[in-house]
Amino acid sequence: MSFELSFENVKKELNFNPKDYEKRVKEINALLESERENPKNFVGWLHYASHINQNLVDSIKKQAKYFRENYDTLVVCGIGGSYLGTRAVIEAVNGLFPKDPFKILYFGQTLDPNYTSQILDYLQDRNFCVVCISKSGTTTETSVAFRLLRNILESKLGKREAAKAIACVTSIGKGALYKMATQEGYNTFELPDNIGGRYSVITPVGLLPIACAGIDIDRFIAGFVRAEEKFNSPELSQNYAYQYACEQNFLYGKGYDIELLITYEPRLQALAEWYKQLFDESNGKDQKGLLVMSSTFTTDLHSLGQYIQDGKKVIFETVLLFNKPKVDVKIPWNEEDLDELNYIADKELSYVNRKACEGTINAHANDGNVPNIVIELDTLDEYKFGEFLYFSMRACAMAGYLEGVNPFNQPGVEIYKKNMFKLLGKKGY
Ligand code: PA5
Repeated sequence: MSFELSFENVKKELNFNPKDYEKRVKEINALLESERENPKNFVGWLHYASHINQNLVDSIKKQAKYFRENYDTLVVCGIGGSYLGTRAVIEAVNGLFPKDPFKILYFGQTLDPNYTSQILDYLQDRNFCVVCISKSGTTTETSVAFRLLRNILESKLGKREAAKAIACVTSIGKGALYKMATQEGYNTFELPDNIGGRYSVITPVGLLPIACAGIDIDRFIAGFVRAEEKFNSPELSQNYAYQYACEQNFLYGKGYDIELLITYEPRLQALAEWYKQLFDESNGKDQKGLLVMSSTFTTDLHSLGQYIQDGKKVIFETVLLFNKPKVDVKIPWNEEDLDELNYIADKELSYVNRKACEGTINAHANDGNVPNIVIELDTLDEYKFGEFLYFSMRACAMAGYLEGVNPFNQPGVEIYKKNMFKLLGKKGY
């Protein structure tokens, strides 16, 4: 099974009819593809992977090799779309406690002084390098963090050596980061103008840090390329990404205002953060939009589970499952059986986790009347993950247009920034 999508309790109870969507899906698909003709539209990600320049991939690999060979820690400095996809891939593929001596830290995504001072303290004893990622080049959280990191590097190594420990990903030709990188001689990679942050994980935004984490970016790109072919079809019956977008739209129309992305693995929590950003920043606007949230089971079955089962019927779930775990753990037999677990002794944890999942879907979908969409993939590796990320992006774009909003802008995000700048006394605000 390489990519399966099923709709538990969606069709049978609520009369979902794909025919109601087929024509609009075709029109929106044509619109998306035609938007590629104008570089001012933000659909550069649609076929980025299949057109990626090999020289760019090689230069990313070269930079990653240099960093891995000369430093022991990488600080990924960015916020929102400039770091969430990266973190999602690295944590999903390498796990939360990787044995790799080359460490990856995330910074530039908060203004919290406690987090900041702890990370700076930690870095004092590390031989670290930095990838600073910002499309605009002016995001406050990222700029502040980058200034602090440069200060440490420059006082430790001097300006020339510090410059070797820094690479940037930004828009070419504009913004403070590009200007600084050019002036200071930092290696710089392009984030194309026609790709927004939350759709940018397939560009150097994701590829550079992911390669630094020792992950095979050729396979990651190949997963995206495969997904481009798979989720390109205007025929709803042949396109899982569009089917998913239609189901979301349908359920939202039936009063299910909240979607929970459910995973059964803590290493997918960063993916959930990316996913929430993708859908909510894209489609929550004009006083409407499905609110996409997430939950990690079985952990949250002991907290949120109560509400999902018995609370207000505004939630539906999308359960993301990877069928083959990378490693498994057997529950040992114990002679005394004081904990009464011998009935599952010698069983793999993946088996128990799966039974928990089956039991939960049944409880929520059948007893709790919570519609469940299930997405099943066979393995969680860089290839499959690339495929899933592209699937999500394509579904998100379709869902936005079905809802009647532009999924590629984020006007609401600017308002807090303006207020903050005004309060901080920034010139011009
Ligand atoms: O998806 C988006 O567009 C945003 O989340 C941005 O990525 C985020 O605000 C960071 O912006 P920038 O890359 O300009 O620093």
